[in-house]
Amino acid sequence: MKFFMANWKMHKTVQEALEFLKDFIPSVQGISDREIGIAPAFVCIDSMSKALRDTDIKVGAQNVFYENKGAYTGEVSPVMLKDLNIDYVIIGHSERRKYFHETDEIINLKIKATMSENLNVIFCIGETLEERESEKTFDVLKKQIEKGLENIEKYDSLVLAYEPVWAIGTGKVASELQIEEAHAFIKNRLKDIYSDKADRIRILYGGSVSPENIHSIMNIANVDGVLVGGASLDPEKFLKIIKYEERK
Ligand code: PGA
Repeated sequence: MKFFMANWKMHKTVQEALEFLKDFIPSVQGISDREIGIAPAFVCIDSMSKALRDTDIKVGAQNVFYENKGAYTGEVSPVMLKDLNIDYVIIGHSERRKYFHETDEIINLKIKATMSENLNVIFCIGETLEERESEKTFDVLKKQIEKGLENIEKYDSLVLAYEPVWAIGTGKVASELQIEEAHAFIKNRLKDIYSDKADRIRILYGGSVSPENIHSIMNIANVDGVLVGGASLDPEKFLKIIKYEERK
């Protein structure tokens, strides 16, 4: 099923999150042919998860730690997230890699710990502008996939998100050819690891997705959905993205 996931990053208080849902829940009612999810800040997860209990909208977290308990001031564990009835955890986002120094090894531990609690993972990968300009894109993607997914067998709980770092929050969307090439490359690397079962792993695109560009993005081969930052903060914009066929 096509997947439309909102990554709210560090935006919205609990009250603002619930306000968003007031408009958003009725507008997506009856949409059953695609999966919709929202990853708010940790502090909003409990209220959002309760408010969405009777809907098909999934709740996600934007981060997690790789131990279930212990002296790790400020961290949140997979078991704590599981307790809030969430479905997805975004792991390896480029902002986590850049500002919080998450390495492929840390990301691999987080994916394992999250899957042990039977939560689904949205595993983010993507190259920086410098890496693209020095023609290292495919080497970078290969390394991120191989290290991030080392010894991970639960492909059923896995979603990949290709997010070129230079396209995130910049308004600079990757070209159709760049997205097509990257997604085909990712699919092939997943096939190296999971053989034919890789076809069950969805690959999302992320980076400046908007109501204006969603239609062409969704028509690219091997694009199974999108991870949306900025545009998902506005219920109308996010809805236009979800119902992209209506705006050609
Ligand atoms: P953006 O963010 O849509 O604001 O570019 C996407 C993301 O970081 O997931």
